[in-house]
Amino acid sequence: MSKETYDRKNEHIDIVLNEDVEFVENMTGFECVNIIHKSLPELDMSSINIETEFMGKKISAPFIISAVTGGTERAARINIRLAETAQKLNIPICLGSQRAMIEDKNLISSYDIRDHAGDVPIIGNIGIVQLKHYGPEQVIDAVERISADGIAVHINPEQEAIQHKGDVDFSGCLNVLEDLVKHAGKVHVMVKEVGHGIDYDTAKSLKRIGVEYLDVAGAGGTSWTKIEGIRRRLRGGHEIHGFDDWGIPTVVSLLMAKKAGWGMSVNGKHNHKHRLISSGGVRSGIDVSKSLLLGADYAGAALPILISKDPVRLISEWMEQFKIVMFLCGASNIDEFKSSDRYTISGWVNDWL
Ligand SMILES: Cc1cc2nc3c(=O)[nH]c(=O)nc-3n(C[C@H](O)[C@H](O)[C@H](O)COP(=O)(O)O)c2cc1C
Repeated sequence: MSKETYDRKNEHIDIVLNEDVEFVENMTGFECVNIIHKSLPELDMSSINIETEFMGKKISAPFIISAVTGGTERAARINIRLAETAQKLNIPICLGSQRAMIEDKNLISSYDIRDHAGDVPIIGNIGIVQLKHYGPEQVIDAVERISADGIAVHINPEQEAIQHKGDVDFSGCLNVLEDLVKHAGKVHVMVKEVGHGIDYDTAKSLKRIGVEYLDVAGAGGTSWTKIEGIRRRLRGGHEIHGFDDWGIPTVVSLLMAKKAGWGMSVNGKHNHKHRLISSGGVRSGIDVSKSLLLGADYAGAALPILISKDPVRLISEWMEQFKIVMFLCGASNIDEFKSSDRYTISGWVNDWL
């Protein structure tokens, strides 16, 4: 791995641990989603089942540990901790970009978490520009080397545009993704943003080329503009202003993706092919509940899990909150909850639609 990639990875972790890197408050749009509970749920809360399925495996809750890191010794320690969390809770885990291990095969161990994760779904990760550069075969090989179940391709034009010496040639990306889908074989293909959201047209194109999982990673949580802005400042480079709060809020992005046909249950019909993940500022089990009511099949988070002293406890608390909301809506399983329609949307989110 180049010294530049190594330094960048360490700087990202240092910055998120020490600085305020989140959007202004109330930017996800979750605060505009109102849940209408049932005053008489007619249900025994202890009978609620939140199990579901992900990449062909049964998981204990509709929650994913989002991509964070890989490639350094410090990243290896973080990934082991997150893998053990995923294994204890039987939920999926997404790794950070595998660019480093493709460039330097000696770095594979920092991604090779299968022994710590048990049989939970593991999702590899690569940036769209790197995918273009390496080609599908090399990327699928990197996924298979770490016994992962899927690959998440992150699309991050805003981050690259703000990043010092970022990769900004995003031409031809859709063709490259289509090629990956064709070459993927048993490896499941996910596309994700990194915190600025996916728009309707892109969601539609990704569905058309056969991508199976879409993580909107919308605006409202971790802001890469802030992180890259801090890096520029630390390096004495010039700052680029005006983008700190740029992006499609998570709730808006979810609704756009749903309209484009994403989500397991679309218009009451089961659609097992194109699954929708809500992330970007998911910070409680209530946010998870709102995500599923809006059409997501799973929710995920990165920053709060990374900085938590006890991630198993944090996610367990969120899942407990999620169960309580299901109880209050009278839903005994995820299908019932998702099709309950027990929400309204108020405020500024409507202005986006
Ligand atoms: C330190 C850090 C490193 C990240 N690295 C990656 C990465 O390598 N690949 C990727 O797809 N997303 C990466 N992300 C983005 C997250 O997966 C997620 O989409 C984003 O942080 C929004 O979620 P959050 O608001 O819960 O943090 C990273 C996030 C953080 C905080």
